[in-house]
Amino acid sequence: MPDHSQLISAALEARKQSIATYSKFHVGAALLTNEGQIISGANIESASYGLSCCAERVALFKALTDGHHKFHALAVASPGGAAPCGACRQLIAEYAADTEILLIDSDAPKNPKSTRINELLPNSFTGEDLQ
Ligand code: THU
Repeated sequence: MPDHSQLISAALEARKQSIATYSKFHVGAALLTNEGQIISGANIESASYGLSCCAERVALFKALTDGHHKFHALAVASPGGAAPCGACRQLIAEYAADTEILLIDSDAPKNPKSTRINELLPNSFTGEDLQ
């Protein structure tokens, strides 16, 4: 595995900006672009719970709207190293499919689990069937 210590640090750092008023589950995410830039995000919750957004989607939307479309890796830091939710998996499959995904336990960040979207969301709908 390449040395992703900077990316992991960015995800842990982003996690500090998480606003998890209701769940108290703070998540940080960081994307490494093919140009070597790191773009991060954290989960933001709403009093209208369903409007909350995961760290992965915040990071991905930031990156895409800054013009970054190719990514080497995505690091996600949370207590226990949770895997992305189904909604985030769908967006990762569409916009960051060739990306190594590192799941980081924020209490033990030295041992990331490496996975890929093919493993997390096999046979995904990518829009190719749309006319
Ligand atoms: N959450 C994330 O940000 N990413 C994940 O991978 C799992 C869940 C957030 C959504 C919500 O703010 C809180 O964690 C609890 O579900």
